[in-house]
Amino acid sequence: MKTYVLVGTGYRGLWSYCEPLVREYADVAKLAAVCDINPKRAKLVGDYLKADIPAYTDFDRMLREQKPDVVIVTTKDCAHEQYICKALEAGCDVITEKPMTTDSAMCAHILETEKRTGHKVAVTFNCRFMDFYVKIKELLMSGLVGDVLSVHYQWLLDTSHGADYFRRWHSIRANSGSLLIHKSTHHFDLANWFLDDEPVKVNAFGTRRFYGHTREERGERCCTCPYKDSCEFFFDIDTEDGGRLKMLYKDCEDADGYIRDRCLFSDVIDIEDSVSLNVKYAKGAVMSYSLTAHSPYECMKIVFNGTKGRLECDNAFGVETIKFYDRAGQCLHIDRSRVRKLPGGHGGSDPAMRDRLFRGWTEDPLSQMADTRAGAMSIGIGIAANLSMKEDRAVYLSEFLGDFYPEMKQRK
Ligand SMILES: NC(=O)c1ccc[n+]([C@@H]2O[C@H](COP(=O)([O-])OP(=O)(O)OC[C@H]3O[C@@H](n4cnc5c(N)ncnc54)[C@H](O)[C@@H]3O)[C@@H](O)[C@H]2O)c1
Repeated sequence: MKTYVLVGTGYRGLWSYCEPLVREYADVAKLAAVCDINPKRAKLVGDYLKADIPAYTDFDRMLREQKPDVVIVTTKDCAHEQYICKALEAGCDVITEKPMTTDSAMCAHILETEKRTGHKVAVTFNCRFMDFYVKIKELLMSGLVGDVLSVHYQWLLDTSHGADYFRRWHSIRANSGSLLIHKSTHHFDLANWFLDDEPVKVNAFGTRRFYGHTREERGERCCTCPYKDSCEFFFDIDTEDGGRLKMLYKDCEDADGYIRDRCLFSDVIDIEDSVSLNVKYAKGAVMSYSLTAHSPYECMKIVFNGTKGRLECDNAFGVETIKFYDRAGQCLHIDRSRVRKLPGGHGGSDPAMRDRLFRGWTEDPLSQMADTRAGAMSIGIGIAANLSMKEDRAVYLSEFLGDFYPEMKQRK
């Protein structure tokens, strides 16, 4: 039986870790305590789960008093590093949500601390457990495509899903590192994992022309907005998600001032809503990637151009399609229509990942469990892209990861 504590008792912390730990993994795991800077949200965990779970606002005190084996980090992104490093220094292993952290200095601190202390950090890339991506990984591993020469990769977020990043803390670069870190870390990790390769160099462009101060009809937040009856983006925090958001955020906002339904057209928003970048990989593949956060519909499309043919995979309107074109132009259509959709968060990937985390595993043939190197390589693309946009140049990941992985310095 391992003892866990969790810091960051928001949506992900409560529903993806605390609740399952208490309700499904009590035979192998004990959730000893939780911590959050918002004392109301921390206390909510025990109240909601009707369990005796001490709630702290002082992380150091929680570690001293509870002496956990493992610390789970589910705070906002920019706070991950301080808790990961304190936990490692205290002799704990760590499970951290993605992104591992948001900038190169904090990334270096995590890598250095993990190496020095000898304790381990797992980064939770749940997408690696989604059935669709597992199928793509298996096809690539089977050798069907041959060597991958180039990748075309596109993510479209619609104006419900995509807009929601611009209402929350995520829309401020200092919190999330931008969507290129917060959101694209999933996408970049998938690309790195699919290719079984590491990124070398990034060139990026980004703009924000949809959200932020792009209209005059705006308020501070939806629930008090004078335009709530006419705004197509009105978001009712009192009723959304069956009242969960009201309970977790609105009813707790007097403790920290965090507003969960802030206007999408606020001046404080400083991240891009459209990005386009190119990545060169160590084994030679080149990737073009784009992310759009204001699309009329949701879609993910990834294409691998290989020595043996072209693998086209997309998921649009909830329909998954995989097609392989061989060198003669023949198309093999891999039927996904009868694939059983797995229950549980994020297409069944959360339960599958939690089983690995909390029940342990002996074999990992698809390398689904991610360590700090994978965490660093995925945010590494985002960090390099942010720097590329800022300095208007191509950026090598070795500029900030080379001291930890010297072989990167040889890659051109
Ligand atoms: N893997 C996934 O699919 C997935 C999905 C959602 C969120 N996440 C990640 O989980 C984390 C939490 O996201 P969320 O959606 O639950 O956000 P959230 O806003 O609901 O919760 C964040 C919590 O962290 C707390 N917090 C903020 N700063 C803190 C600090 N310095 N010290 C202690 N607590 C602090 C907040 O008070 C809040 O309770 C993020 O890193 C996010 O990227 C991952």
